[in-house]
Amino acid sequence: MERVFGRPVVTQEQMRARIREMGKQISTDYAGKDLVLVGVLKGAYAFYADLARAIRIPIRVDFIIVTSYGSKAKTSGKVKLVTELTEEIKGKDVLLVEDIVDSGLTVQYLVKTLSKRKPRSIKVCTLLSKPERREVEVQIDYEGFKIPNKYVVGYGLDYQQKYRNLPYLAVLDQVDEEA
Ligand code: IMP
Ligand code: MG
Repeated sequence: MERVFGRPVVTQEQMRARIREMGKQISTDYAGKDLVLVGVLKGAYAFYADLARAIRIPIRVDFIIVTSYGSKAKTSGKVKLVTELTEEIKGKDVLLVEDIVDSGLTVQYLVKTLSKRKPRSIKVCTLLSKPERREVEVQIDYEGFKIPNKYVVGYGLDYQQKYRNLPYLAVLDQVDEEA
């Protein structure tokens, strides 16, 4: 089926400006600290690359891959760590970088799991948030944009593993829930 994209939810200009602000804020908040920026793949890759370069203090970069959705647009409610971090986070300041917080289950799981490794602190940074969809309460420390309850693709976000390379965020108008 041909996909129809609506207007961009957030324009590239808005995104660039907001990410610059977030990078500044993070640089101030973590000055003098041992910050590990942990990207949640695959969705966060585009945001992560832009955010990391907007941060003006030396940081460590690391990544984990999680799956929560499989190939469906609807959450299964199950989250699984597919890969591990490459370095220990004990005693370090961890900032999780997510593309979007939807039900909140992924962030809840990751904060709980990574906290067991005794980081000095653990916080959450997400480009997007859909507050209407929240099933569990999670604390978001840095949030790019709140968006309405629409399925979005592009800038790292996928629909059935496609559209991640769209350079902007767009609403996917037709989501085949059975696919
Ligand atoms: P949560 O566990 O329900 O908060 O879902 C988080 C994950 O679901 C995100 O990291 C995304 O990978 C995916 N997700 C949620 N909403 C969307 C969307 O609108 N477009 C693409 N992926 C989404
Ligand atoms: Mg994700």
